[in-house]
Order: sequence, then structure tokens, then C-alpha cells
Amino acid sequence: MNSLDICIVEDERFQREMLGDFLAKEGHRIAEAERGEEALELLAQGSFDLLLIDYRIPGMNGIEVLREAKRLNPEIDAVIITAYGTIETAVAAMKAGAADYITKPVDLDELTILIARIADRRRLIRENQMLRHELKAKGVSSDTIRHRSRKMTELINLAGRIAPSLATVLIRGETGTGKELFARLIHSLSPRADRPIITVNCAAIPETLLESELFGHEKGAFTGAVQRRIGKFEQADGGTLFLDEIGELSMPVQAKLLRFLQEREFQRVGGDRTLKADVRILSATHQDLELRVKEGSFREDLFYRINVVTMHIPPLRERREDIPVLLDHFLQRFARENRKPMEGMSREARDLLLKYDYPGNVRELENIMERAVVVSRGSVISLEDLPFPQVECEEQGGAEGEGGLLREALESLERRMIRDSLEAAGYNQSQAARQLGLSERMLRYKIKKYGLK
Ligand SMILES: Nc1ncnc2c1ncn2[C@@H]1O[C@H](COP(=O)(O)OP(=O)(O)OP(=O)(O)O)[C@@H](O)[C@H]1O
Ligand SMILES: [Mg+2]
Repeated sequence: MNSLDICIVEDERFQREMLGDFLAKEGHRIAEAERGEEALELLAQGSFDLLLIDYRIPGMNGIEVLREAKRLNPEIDAVIITAYGTIETAVAAMKAGAADYITKPVDLDELTILIARIADRRRLIRENQMLRHELKAKGVSSDTIRHRSRKMTELINLAGRIAPSLATVLIRGETGTGKELFARLIHSLSPRADRPIITVNCAAIPETLLESELFGHEKGAFTGAVQRRIGKFEQADGGTLFLDEIGELSMPVQAKLLRFLQEREFQRVGGDRTLKADVRILSATHQDLELRVKEGSFREDLFYRINVVTMHIPPLRERREDIPVLLDHFLQRFARENRKPMEGMSREARDLLLKYDYPGNVRELENIMERAVVVSRGSVISLEDLPFPQVECEEQGGAEGEGGLLREALESLERRMIRDSLEAAGYNQSQAARQLGLSERMLRYKIKKYGLK
């Protein structure tokens, strides 16, 4: 599946044929050239994924071939084969745009791993490009989910692959990680995109009303049901129903949802007519549903039904590469929305935002940036525009003399108290925070600040 078109450029016949045979056996398509000029002719004619070039070949050297090849096809990957120990060659190769280098004698296991990695990366890029194309054709901006991390790229590609099917998808992740965005992305990539996506937040609707909200009710079904009402399943007919916080469903509603997933049928509350709806179910939760199943408060059969595909959206702290992209995105967005021309942020502010842990994930980052844009006095966000407690300390920190001494004394007292109560609580942070009258987040911040633990 991951086979590549590879061109081997090597003048020593034995070496060339050995590599060619080996890579062909691994499932790749191979072309061979003795000299750089010959390789470039091949490149001009066909499309290749990877060039495997011996650095020392007659005529043009490997790096020159690489440069010229990149000019012909900027997407091509190249690996330079160098004699053992010539680090300068390796550096020059990387500078010229080689994906990697490998030393002679070529270790075939190492070569296999290296090529697998290149193939994997090319696949990822290709999938992403195709998806972008598709999104564009559907008029959806693929930029709604800002990302740079590999984890997110993989998830977006997965969304693209599963979108066309009817498979249920359970989207998991901490609060504010973007679960709802993914649900919308899957819907907008699906053949149902021109039909509605209906969202029900199962945690926001009182348990007693949820059943009728989802399935509708007949007139007189219960006190207050003065009229017949269409439920969300009927509204979503032909489209997608997104059940947010699905862990909150009561047992009776779980049973009804299960029946729908098995038979595509349901009844309105207080009704005896069996209705059908063509609805794709997506759901999200931040709960440990496996635990809920074990405890007996979530049906195991339903768990498997809603969970044909699982998507785990990682918390922001596990994909820190996304933070700078998100900071810039929200800065621009809130500048536009507030009609406030923003140039950026101070170095200290940026450093702090890049280091912060974001327990509330992207939503917290979004809120921080919105507030910062709104409160900032000028066109540059500074430390004092950020809602972090250290801002005050640092502001006072500028003052010399008594203020500084007092602060030092207070800080050393604070440090000692925190250390003592952490020890007393057996390093249980929640317990220590309670004892100190601090929020856990504040405690975490102070632990970091004082380098405790
Ligand atoms: N990668 C991203 N790019 C741009 N905006 C994002 C991204 N991820 C999340 N957001 C924004 O962050 C906020 C939270 O996202 P979303 O509501 O999808 O998260 P959630 O996981 O459903 O949160 P909750 O668990 O609290 O319901 C939204 O305003 C969303 O637009
Ligand atoms: Mg949500």
C-alpha cells in the first residue's frame, strides 16, 4: 500500500542492483541510473517519489543532482548515500533539501525504516491535500480546525476517511479540545452535508425532558404536552444528529437510542406509531464511559453501537506545536471582530502563553486571547493583558527597595507554606490546594513558579 516510485542513482553496478532488487522485493517500483544526467532525464519523463543518490558518482555529484531534481519536482524526497564518516556531505545534503542520508555500507534494515518513514509522511501529506481539495469543493474552509501537530493532521484525515459512511463516531477528549468542531467537520465532509446537523447537549436538558426532546411527543403524552411535538431525530432526518455529552443519557433514553441504532426505528413519547428516520449519529463525551459501563450506569451494548469509530482529541498540552498557530489565529480573529488593529504581542506575553498548560484547552486559549484583545491599551498585547496572577508580581517586581524586600519575604513564606502542605497532603495537589485555600490551577502555577516537586 505504501509503495513508492524510487530512482536509484549509483554508478557501482553491484551496489545499484543489490539496492534495486532489495527495494523491489519490498514492493517499490524501481528505476536505476548510473549517472546524474541520466537520472535527471528519467525524472523529466516520469514521476518519482524518492531519489536514492550516491554522493560520489561520476559527472555531477549527488548534491548537484539533488538540487536539480528539486527544481524539476519540488515534492520529491531524496536520500543521499555517503561514505562512512563524511559528516560534511551529510550536512550539505540536508541543506540541499534531502529528507535524510544513510552511510555506506548501507544497512538494509535502516534503509527500510527510513523509506517507511518517508512513505508515511508522503501519505499523510497527500491525504491532507486531497481532503483540502474536497473541502474546498464543498465550500467548507479546512481552516476551521487550526493545527500544526501531526496528531491533529492524522485526526483530520481520519475524519475525511470516515465521513462518507454511516458509521457512528464517538469523539472523546477533555473539555475545550474541539470535539464539536470535529463533529461538524465529519458532517460537512459527508454526503449529508446539505442536510442539517442537529446538536443536542444531553447535559443541558433536564433528564425528564430529554426523551421528548430527542424523540418528540404526542399531544397529551404528559402534563404540559398540549401539542404534538417533533423531536430531534425527525428534524435531523437525512442529516446528522450530534449527541454531545452522551454520558448523561438516562437508562430509558439509552434503551431507546439503542433500538434506533439497531432497527432505525423509534416512537414518540406517548405514541404507539413506529417511526423511521435516516439519521447518522455522532456523539461526544469527556467521561470515562468504560468505567460507567463497569459501574452499570451506561449500557455496554449501546457503548459498542455508538463507538464504531473512536476519535481521541488530545489535550492542547500534548500538542504544543498547535499553540502558536492558535494564538495567531485568535489574535487576528478578535482583532477583526473588535475592529482593533493588533500588531501582535510582547515577547514576555508570548513566552508565557507558549509555556502555559491550558487545562481548559483551546477554549481557554480562545478566552484568554479575546480578553487580551479587548483589554489591551495599545496594539500589542502585553503581560498585564493576560489573566495570570504573576502579572501583578512582575509589575511590582519593577519597584526597588522596600517593596522588593517585602515581596521576597512574602514569597519565601508562601513557598514554605506550599511545600509544607504538599508534604502534609502526601503530594496530593487537590488536598493541598483545599488546605491552602487556592484553586488547583493556582497551586499548579505556584508549584512551577517556586520549582517545587
Ligand atoms: N483547532 C482549533 N482551531 C480553531 N478553533 C478551535 C480549535 N479547537 C477548538 N477551537 C475552538 O475552541 C472552542 C471549543 O471547541 P469545541 O466546542 O469544539 O470543544 P469541545 O471539545 O466540544 O468542548 P466541551 O467539551 O467543553 O464541549 C470553540 O470555540 C472552537 O471554535
Ligand atoms: Mg462541546
